[in-house]
Amino acid sequence: MAKTIFRIWRGDARGGEFKEYESEVSEGMVVLDVVHRIQADQANDLAVRWNCKAGKCGSCSAEINGRPRLMCMTRMDTLPKDRPVTLQPMHAFPLLRDLVTNAREKALLELLMAPQRLGLAVVGPPGIPAEVTTLLRDAYLTMVATTEYRDEAIKRGFDVGAPNSGEAITEYVTSTLMTVPTETIAEYRTYVERR
Ligand code: FES
Repeated sequence: MAKTIFRIWRGDARGGEFKEYESEVSEGMVVLDVVHRIQADQANDLAVRWNCKAGKCGSCSAEINGRPRLMCMTRMDTLPKDRPVTLQPMHAFPLLRDLVTNAREKALLELLMAPQRLGLAVVGPPGIPAEVTTLLRDAYLTMVATTEYRDEAIKRGFDVGAPNSGEAITEYVTSTLMTVPTETIAEYRTYVERR
């Protein structure tokens, strides 16, 4: 089992600091698994929130290596291995303690997490024949499954979680992103522009 250093922000709204923890990481673990292991073995008072463990509720959101992510959906083997993994609370939300924030809007979280849920979507113009779309989708899924692609993408800091199918992305955009209220989109923009 490989060992990984985690730098986790500890503190509350009055202040805090990063603390280092070393933990064993086994195959198939996601970031949330490692955080739970650290909590059990080394930091019983570490505050972390989660619920569904399936990328749906948004409660495990945190900034992983400086980017908004869901801890339950971020596989350890998609993160660079040559430096510590940094975990801190989401900048956008008022901080309660450690990795726990007080999310005002589930929809706002949804927008922040959309890039991770969508993965590396390839967008084409309307009117592409269905059989061509099928070929393109199959080729894309074959490409992202290769070791060469994953290694290069990780090196460049791209998201390489489990790739979504074109059908799953279409369903997510239609049923979730298209229903986010305009005031939440405006709030999201102010957050993105602040970063
Ligand atoms: S625990 Fe629900 S999204 Fe991670």
